[in-house]
Amino acid sequence: MILGLETSCDETAAALITRDGAIVANVVSSQADLHARYGGVVPEVAARRHLELVTPVIREALGEAKAELGDVELVGVTTGPGLIGALLVGVAAAKAIAWARRLPLAAVDHLHGHVASLYLEPDPLEPPFLCLLASGGHTMLLDVQDRGSKPHVLGTTIDDAAGEAFDKGARLLGLGYPGGARIDRLARDGDPGAFDFPVARVPGLDFSFSGVKTALLYAVRDKSDAWLEAAHADLAASYQRAIVRALVERTQQAAEQIGASRVAVVGGVAANSELRASLPDAALAPLALCTDNAAMIASAARYVEPVSYPGYLGLDAYASTA
Ligand code: KG4
Ligand code: ZN
Repeated sequence: MILGLETSCDETAAALITRDGAIVANVVSSQADLHARYGGVVPEVAARRHLELVTPVIREALGEAKAELGDVELVGVTTGPGLIGALLVGVAAAKAIAWARRLPLAAVDHLHGHVASLYLEPDPLEPPFLCLLASGGHTMLLDVQDRGSKPHVLGTTIDDAAGEAFDKGARLLGLGYPGGARIDRLARDGDPGAFDFPVARVPGLDFSFSGVKTALLYAVRDKSDAWLEAAHADLAASYQRAIVRALVERTQQAAEQIGASRVAVVGGVAANSELRASLPDAALAPLALCTDNAAMIASAARYVEPVSYPGYLGLDAYASTA
């Protein structure tokens, strides 16, 4: 079995999967409530919480799998990109377990992990495909040719990530953190045509989401509480529609450009119901595997050259990809 660990942001996660990609245990402990009062993730608070949670979460995953550390043959861990203090907790835990058991260790890139959420059972996807990766930290169009090598980046955001736009929008609407799922829920009761929130069209296959957030800001500022309350759902629906349209348009454009026959969507924003409904032919990561989890990290670990004992002791984490 492969043990996966993920601590790059505010989810402490451990999972066990088989070599074939069957999920045996998948435990995610979200710190969202802890950070809600600050309106976003506080890196140092996240790191300290990971430290408290990482061992219990690993224990829980082993318990769920009715397994012991002796059943683990490979440890895969997110080494970046993410919050550096948070990452270091997972990396240190992974090193300790691998070292104690003389196991190999696979350093997994978080974005590779999101893509590898598509390679898990029961419905694994085979490359090549065009992948829209939309999360709180990234928005990318990737040309995925095989499961192991780094995909070609066709487009990326020049400012905010799509998930970040959802989170900032939710904050402006007073929905709290994390916002994507809350906007998604509220939008169901609203009219997406009520407000016109244009998304900037940048050249090529890149995205820009900072303008749409500013448009929402202008729409809500100086308004009375009563007005806001009445317009709440319409604002959420219109805002969501703008972001989803931009994602779908660019994805379709990229698919045409590279002649992709398959399109896949991964990352936290892939959980959005309107986005899922707008791409009915796309391969969508299962809901539980859209937001950060360790099953996807264990999945990616299968396609990474593992570092053998004890070479990984000097392994470092990285905050961003250069
Ligand atoms: O992949 P993820 O868990 O973490 C990162 O790697 O960033 O993505 C988290 C992001 C957050 O911005 C959250 O608001 C967004 O995914 N998200 C959603 C939904 N569920 C989570 N955005 C829109 N609709 C959702 N249902
Ligand atoms: Zn993520």
